[in-house]
Amino acid sequence: MSTTIGDDLPQDKVQVSRRSLAKRALVLAATTGAGGYGIFWDTETIVSTHHRVVVPNLASPCTVVQISDLHRSWCVSSSFIDRCIAAANRHRPDIVLLTGDFITAHTSFMPSCARAIQQLHAPLGSYAVLGNHDYASDNWLGAPIIKAALRNVGVEVLVNSSVMLRNGLRLVGVDDYATGEPDTEKAFGKVRQRDAVLCMTHNPLEFDVLRGYNVTTLAGHTHGGQIDLPIITDLVLDKRSKYLRGWFHSQHWPGKMYVSRGLGVLGIPVRVNALPEIAVFHLTPS
Ligand SMILES: [Fe+2]
Repeated sequence: MSTTIGDDLPQDKVQVSRRSLAKRALVLAATTGAGGYGIFWDTETIVSTHHRVVVPNLASPCTVVQISDLHRSWCVSSSFIDRCIAAANRHRPDIVLLTGDFITAHTSFMPSCARAIQQLHAPLGSYAVLGNHDYASDNWLGAPIIKAALRNVGVEVLVNSSVMLRNGLRLVGVDDYATGEPDTEKAFGKVRQRDAVLCMTHNPLEFDVLRGYNVTTLAGHTHGGQIDLPIITDLVLDKRSKYLRGWFHSQHWPGKMYVSRGLGVLGIPVRVNALPEIAVFHLTPS
């Protein structure tokens, strides 16, 4: 099994629309005036974060782009999803990983989401795991529709399984911690000692189950809090705040995990101190 080390690299410049700039200015003025915290609301500025990850046994460097929590819905437009995909493509990824929550509640939003995803360019392929909102959509009947939509646009869905990519990287997908049937033993069943490995799952709480696996895992789900206010976010998110965003390293086992803030929003079109994120991982051999 592989050992990986993640290092944050300098963040990309952000893409800001004029509407977004105006909204930021208004909200920044309101919030600084009201509370003096300097916080702002923004659902449209996409930030790319960069991370160096050393993967033993990897044959050659490659670029992995993670897209998470698109949440296509009444408050996440198809034009925003299009911008997310275009932003991902600009990083010229070798591999794209989509870590769940493609829609919020209704699969009627999936066709437009899938049309955008079809525009992804990744020579080694695009791969996905489903999130809790995918499973719960259409009164718990939506998952097969979402899987089919993804497969129709060339995205392979991993459910407790792995795939060996052409560059020798073994990619593992673990099912959702809360609403799926996660089975790490099954997911890692084909992993061999000398494999270069990367893992993905939707809910970061799966990290606690992944103890014993010396691997880097990419997750989403939390939206970085979405509305990230001191104390309030911790109280509202309770257990989830344990793995809210960024890198996590356990003191007790060697695996590591990165939690993306994701791109869409849940419930209301508001993000505070949690800008939409595309995470770019520069994988290098040890
Ligand atoms: Fe989500």
